Amino acid sequence: MVKESRLSRRSTERSRELLERARSLVPRAAQTNSKSPTQYVQGVSPTHIERGDGCRVWDVDGNEYIDCVMGLGPNLLGHNYPPVTEAVREQTEKGTAFSMPNPLQLDVAELIVDVVPCAEMVRFGKNGNDVTTLAAKLARAHTGRDIIATQGYHGWPDVFMSSNPGLSSGIPDVVGEYTESFDYNDIESLERIFEEHPDDVAAIVTTPVNMSAPEDDFIQQMREIADREDALLVFDEILTGFRFALGGAQEYYGVTPDLACFAKGISNGYPLSALAGREDVMRTMENPDFMFSMTYAGEAASLAAAKACITEQIEQGDVHDHIWRQGEAIKNGYNDLAEDHGLEHITASSGLGPRVSVNFNDAENASSNALESLFMQEAHRGGVLFSGSHLPSYSHSDEDIEEMLAVYDDALAELEDALDADAVEERLDGEPVGASIREQIGEED
Ligand SMILES: Cc1ncc(COP(=O)(O)O)c(C=O)c1O
Repeated sequence: MVKESRLSRRSTERSRELLERARSLVPRAAQTNSKSPTQYVQGVSPTHIERGDGCRVWDVDGNEYIDCVMGLGPNLLGHNYPPVTEAVREQTEKGTAFSMPNPLQLDVAELIVDVVPCAEMVRFGKNGNDVTTLAAKLARAHTGRDIIATQGYHGWPDVFMSSNPGLSSGIPDVVGEYTESFDYNDIESLERIFEEHPDDVAAIVTTPVNMSAPEDDFIQQMREIADREDALLVFDEILTGFRFALGGAQEYYGVTPDLACFAKGISNGYPLSALAGREDVMRTMENPDFMFSMTYAGEAASLAAAKACITEQIEQGDVHDHIWRQGEAIKNGYNDLAEDHGLEHITASSGLGPRVSVNFNDAENASSNALESLFMQEAHRGGVLFSGSHLPSYSHSDEDIEEMLAVYDDALAELEDALDADAVEERLDGEPVGASIREQIGEED
């Protein structure tokens, strides 16, 4: 048996108590799928986080962790990042929700227009899906066409989820007739949509990059097809924006879309999203029959956070290089460790620096799910809030990455040992990742 993890005796008792309360009060026990207890090792992993600072978070039992996904991406600079916290504190003292726009909407819009290649005008929302939905609707209104060609995740709205048979409950079939899916790095699958719907594709709504890099000028080819077909090219930069580069993946890859959606890295943990793009398209929102409006869209604390967050990225100058470097260090460090433990055929890290994942394959005597769950259990006990992917922040120092990799080293040693002993599932002290919440309370899923 390998040495016991440094923090293996940490208690998660309060986490479990809160999970019991959540089960009776909150369907799925969380507000976001990826934050649900089902994504973790129920019974071992923490379930509620109390506070964060830099790249560290503390759970409700007071246990400290190095954060890997930083709240699913928004904390680009770090939790409680001082210039952002200060800007929000100043604004909250002046009030946050007014009956007319606050001037901060102009400051933030100007910053976005300055740094994002496609941005000529900007509108704000709160969540990413506010502006991905807006982009699809605006493209339809602007072009007078109905079909949205799409790939990648763009949030839960009907226009996107209708094309996902596994997640389309509650959406009338007819909605799905107007959304067509294609595959990333498969330009033929996109061409087919245009062939099947001549002159009726309003927009290609796509993440500019997924886990793997674009191949064969895929992004440029999407641009060329959109131009040839008089359709709009919309980049969903909710994850890549302000992360791959100050101007997003469109700056990094040198392809300018007609519209782009931003959230997460725009405001360092405060709820703000933005649609930016070509003036003529954006002005279609001024048509009297076009509607996009919500009470909190111009809420001032989040705009203050965004102003401070983007300004900090401009002033520091090395935010994006830092994020790329730390992500590559995690990926390469993990793959070296997997090799050291003879596990390179079982687990590997992949992706591009700003977003790096760790994946598991089935072994002869253990499923990928059991292996991932055991690795997660050990990572959590060692003080790393592992959840499969890494969205490094400006606050992850070289020492933090070293510490993270030291914990991964221990976790992989445990995996190696458990595989040798044919005891992967046996060593799991909680439910494997993906176990339903209802099973835990004795109901059918
Ligand atoms: C690429 C992408 N688009 C859209 C969304 C939806 O954003 P939100 O959850 O803020 O609505 C996400 C969320 O993770 C995302 O990663």
